[in-house]
Amino acid sequence: MTGKPLGIGLLGLGTVGGAVARTFAERSRRLDSAAGRPLRLVRAAVRDTSKTRDVEVPVTGDVFEVLDDPDIGVVIEVIGGVAPAHDLLLAAFERGKHVVTANKELLAKEWNGLHETARLARRELRYEAAVAAAVPIIAAVKGLGAVRPRVLRGLLNGTTTYICSRLEQGVSFDEALAEAQSKGYAEPDPTNDVDGFDAAYKLAILVSLLEGRWFDPAQVRRTSLRSSSAAESQAALGRGTRVRYVAVADFGEKAVKCRVGPEEVDGASLEGGASGPTNVITLTSDIAGTLVWSGPGAGGLATASAILGDVVEIARTHS
Ligand SMILES: NC(=O)c1ccc[n+]([C@@H]2O[C@H](COP(=O)([O-])OP(=O)(O)OC[C@H]3O[C@@H](n4cnc5c(N)ncnc54)[C@H](OP(=O)(O)O)[C@@H]3O)[C@@H](O)[C@H]2O)c1
Repeated sequence: MTGKPLGIGLLGLGTVGGAVARTFAERSRRLDSAAGRPLRLVRAAVRDTSKTRDVEVPVTGDVFEVLDDPDIGVVIEVIGGVAPAHDLLLAAFERGKHVVTANKELLAKEWNGLHETARLARRELRYEAAVAAAVPIIAAVKGLGAVRPRVLRGLLNGTTTYICSRLEQGVSFDEALAEAQSKGYAEPDPTNDVDGFDAAYKLAILVSLLEGRWFDPAQVRRTSLRSSSAAESQAALGRGTRVRYVAVADFGEKAVKCRVGPEEVDGASLEGGASGPTNVITLTSDIAGTLVWSGPGAGGLATASAILGDVVEIARTHS
């Protein structure tokens, strides 16, 4: 491999960051040949350096050892939340780094500022992992600039899909939530999942891309899953439908109406058949007709796949 090496720095080494570091170590030749140049994972910054970690990357407790390293051209942010991630991304652009993030909350809330900062810095802001993890929905939606969307709908949150599928088997909401947490599907704070914030952030990102302007996630009408019961879900089964936590964007003539919440879907549909972290997204449009995407929407490796795909794209474009 003869091209100029590209150094990568990680901010965060948890579920997703750890999977990125392990995937890097396991398939470095594949990544280098996809990128057309050597990719090097230089360092990872964490909060607690005393934790034992099963990864081969040097670890630091000082984020500026990543941000200020001249050998690092791409910063991957997998800390999550708005603070301190927001300041760290701005600092990365200020230092001329490209940014790859999986942080849907930050993107959905700070859409305009982050895009404008990246544009002024002439650096890339990439976030394929922020919606539907391994499903390349961001790239797909970016390729639909000529299309008038009618309705975008789908399952964007694995925890709620899992809980819905357990409710219909007679398990209580609390038990199903505990199971989802033990399987690693649930975000650390279940509020994000079961009260619809996570799905609303992802829906707002997709709508922002389809509309070409920021859609504030606060405009998404959210209905919590907390009041759903096993009895209701089993009654739906009896009608040939299934309750799923659905995200819907309705693109009217004047305004887009967005909602997330439990709804009955056709039991024989892809949405009805999903039972875990599988995400399903359907877009109906004018000239592109109906498009459907489905695949792993959560989990370390599925998310690492999207993040490393973004890194490879940056390496190819900026030699
Ligand atoms: N998990 C998924 O399936 C998934 C899927 C798609 C997108 N995402 C997104 O990916 C991001 C990360 O999620 P995750 O599940 O990997 O979270 P996580 O397991 O909680 O990991 C967070 C990491 O960030 C580090 N960290 C926290 N605060 C820090 C700080 N101030 N400075 C430096 N490092 C700090 C933590 O350090 P310590 O290890 O020292 O605590 C940890 O390594 C989130 O935005 C999430 O929404 C996750």
